[in-house]
Amino acid sequence: MPLITIDTKKCRRDGICAAACPAQIIVWTDKKSFPTLLAQGEEFCINCGHCVAVCPHGALTLATMAPADCPPVERDLLPGADALRHLLLARRSIRRYKKTPVSRKVLAELLDVARTAPTGSNRQEVHWLVISDPDEVRRLAQMVIDFMNIMLSVTTDEAAAKRFRRIVNAWDNGRDRITRGAPHLVLAHSPADLSFPSADCAIALTYLELYAYARGLGTCWAGYFTAAAGLHEPLIRALALPAGRQCYGAVMLGYPQYRYLRIPKRNDMQVVWR
Ligand SMILES: Cc1cc2nc3c(=O)[nH]c(=O)nc-3n(C[C@H](O)[C@H](O)[C@H](O)COP(=O)(O)O)c2cc1C
Repeated sequence: MPLITIDTKKCRRDGICAAACPAQIIVWTDKKSFPTLLAQGEEFCINCGHCVAVCPHGALTLATMAPADCPPVERDLLPGADALRHLLLARRSIRRYKKTPVSRKVLAELLDVARTAPTGSNRQEVHWLVISDPDEVRRLAQMVIDFMNIMLSVTTDEAAAKRFRRIVNAWDNGRDRITRGAPHLVLAHSPADLSFPSADCAIALTYLELYAYARGLGTCWAGYFTAAAGLHEPLIRALALPAGRQCYGAVMLGYPQYRYLRIPKRNDMQVVWR
């Protein structure tokens, strides 16, 4: 099958597909000609589907997706700017969770949104490890504490040591500051040799966090966990990610125990306008 097929009965020769193609591999010259693929254009296609998604007439089919495979954008379902702004401002990092587990169905719905987050060159290489056994979450958190204890024995950074000591002390006294007693831990991993593995994972997790909040769930980045997951061999072995893949981010997830009623103050924006 060719990379692009133009339905000449539907195509109005408006050149919109060529204008939208990020790799500029669709050639369109004028109103008299149908768009065509640049010679050897296949090599540069990133399979983003913009050509299919942007055509007002449904005239272009990509080898991997036809217009019928791409649901229409429903304008009535889009939140207004005020609603979206309020959601972004109202989301909080949640550190107290109910024990109630989140169903596999809801977890899958969250990941189904997160998998559509933008990725460098549309590589879509963010994969997931979802841990739903609270004992397993705790066992992994213990490994982060072990890692902190090792760091404490070698670090010369007194400020970091002070922070680690407080976290280790809390753990020893039954207070989990690594995964906060969350019933689930969601890890995003990606091949280490991509251009932007860390950004890809962080953006996907951000999609997940925002959608989770809209669904009445709570999340919080597990930063200490993420750091240890890249450095601490026993934890790396326990995660057992496929070869070449690294965890670039993890969030705790569950039903929040408390509702936040106000939006806390943040720093004023620091910006240079040019
Ligand atoms: C990269 C990153 C790592 C973080 N790591 C942790 C963490 O290990 N533990 C924690 O309780 N919160 C962690 N947080 C949450 C931040 O502390 C939180 O986002 C910040 O205090 C602002 O609060 P808000 O998210 O409610 O606006 C992390 C956040 C980010 C973005």
